Amino acid sequence: MKIVLASDHAGATLKADLVEYVASLGHETRDLGADGSCSVDYPQFAQQAARAVIDGRADRAILICGTGLGMSMAANKVRGIRAALCHECYSARMAREHNDANVLCLGQRVVGVGLARDVVRTFLEAQFSQGPNHRRRLDMIAESESGAEAV
Ligand code: RB5
Repeated sequence: MKIVLASDHAGATLKADLVEYVASLGHETRDLGADGSCSVDYPQFAQQAARAVIDGRADRAILICGTGLGMSMAANKVRGIRAALCHECYSARMAREHNDANVLCLGQRVVGVGLARDVVRTFLEAQFSQGPNHRRRLDMIAESESGAEAV
């Protein structure tokens, strides 16, 4: 799959590790920044990555900030994005199987690199269940965001 990764300054170290890790799993990766420790604004990076997913330039995005909270809030404002903040593997698997999440968010200040890698692998390997109940609920979410901004 094509995976874009982005972070703010508080997630850049974990992002750098995950760019390499995701590539080692056989995926095509694109690093959208940020690099270094200069303070930047996470919505800008979340929106860029979300746009890549919505445009079809990427299959999934992985977004990292200090907590993962700001990235998930910003990404979920974009129509068609289903961003899931997951710091353990069960939620990462369910985010795909039940919620068909297309963005994974992580907090560098919350989770260690070993667990983050496991969460990422779980998220990338799991598939949407295609269950009609889950599909219906996702359609309801899509309906409710019909007035949201398309980036
Ligand atoms: C930056 O200090 C921090 O607020 C940001 O990375 C993120 O955790 C926000 O949700």
